[in-house]
Amino acid sequence: MNAPESSKALAGPMPHVLNTYGRLPLALSHGRGCWVWDTRGKKYLDALGGIAVNTLGHGHPKLVPALQDQVAKMIHCSNYYEVPLQEQLAARLCEISGLSGAFFCNSGLEANEGAIKIARKFGHDKGIERPEIIVYEKAFHGRSIATLSATGNTKVQKGFEPLVEGFVRVPLNDIAAIEQVARSNPNVVAVFLEVIQGEGGINPTRAEYLRALRRICDERDWLLMLDEVQCGLGRTGKWFAHQWAGIQPDVMPLAKGLGSGVPIGAIVCGPRAVNVLGPGNHGTTFGGNPLAMRAGVETLRIVEEDGLLANAAAVGEVLMKALREGLAGEKGVLEYRGQGLMIGIELDRPCAALLGRAADAGLMISVTAERVVRLLPPLILSADEARQIAAILCPLIKAFLAEPAPKA
Ligand SMILES: Cc1ncc(COP(=O)(O)O)c(C=O)c1O
Repeated sequence: MNAPESSKALAGPMPHVLNTYGRLPLALSHGRGCWVWDTRGKKYLDALGGIAVNTLGHGHPKLVPALQDQVAKMIHCSNYYEVPLQEQLAARLCEISGLSGAFFCNSGLEANEGAIKIARKFGHDKGIERPEIIVYEKAFHGRSIATLSATGNTKVQKGFEPLVEGFVRVPLNDIAAIEQVARSNPNVVAVFLEVIQGEGGINPTRAEYLRALRRICDERDWLLMLDEVQCGLGRTGKWFAHQWAGIQPDVMPLAKGLGSGVPIGAIVCGPRAVNVLGPGNHGTTFGGNPLAMRAGVETLRIVEEDGLLANAAAVGEVLMKALREGLAGEKGVLEYRGQGLMIGIELDRPCAALLGRAADAGLMISVTAERVVRLLPPLILSADEARQIAAILCPLIKAFLAEPAPKA
């Protein structure tokens, strides 16, 4: 596919854009399926999916005309009026989650910010004046002041103190730590965690731990709030990652993959949380606008119609197997983690250098938690493309591990 004329300019530094990202020196111009092209015409296999956003890949033939239709009809209208597409998307989210209602916003951090407000209000409504929320080591919930305070990474927090108070931190998968907090802290109102920690290095929460949390939350009248911003929306092979444990949350923030690239966030609430916020308690100008809602409705419809849950599970297995085979015997590979099309390979050393090398080799990946190669490809990935990812990536990792490890 040729790049459109307007995108043929060379990539270069961006002096007028704030310098908040360590960017690679390339600019993507367009994409088709799981493939993207840069402005120089180089082609890449997209194993990153815009960080778990491009559920349907790029230029999906069912999504594009639906969004074109919606842009022509209406992009935005105020929440002063009813927005029927909000009702349509909320109803579908309730159907696939078993929950009761949704609030729409624009991003993951906004969904989490709203969840934190729900937890605090839930506490105030039952007379707890200084409500506290249990959060986790290595968690990532966003970069607003409240969500970075809930995040378990001092690098994200440094320079932005004072942090928001009202969070109690525990290690993941350690039920004794939760019981200890429960015994000593009467102000706890909620437990807030990712079902699979994404930015923290693809760290899965164990199913039995989730079930124990559900039981403790019921016993203590706490809200169980599961951040499915990265691991939700079909990525693990079920609509939501917690469904593998057979439990339901009270509050579930979503974003990333819900709109296949159109900015969107949602706070989906079960019966205990759905009436906590009332008129005047929360709001957003853009949240729930017709374009984002249409993107959500169409994404969920296409995921279902095209069998993408089953595809994520099956192709995820193909990818994991190909990676394990391609890296068999590599002592520098410490662990393979994840489920479906959310995969992390932990190495024995920091490996950010692999990002650029993968791009040079025509592959988009990410590195998180310093040592974890992370793959979050579109859910439309084919088995053949999964094998191609491994065929490009494994030799790069092998060559990297053969180099002398940098001194600690
Ligand atoms: C689990 C999780 N929660 C929240 C966020 C924040 O989402 P956003 O970047 O849309 O604010 C992220 C982003 O990576 C995430 O992975």
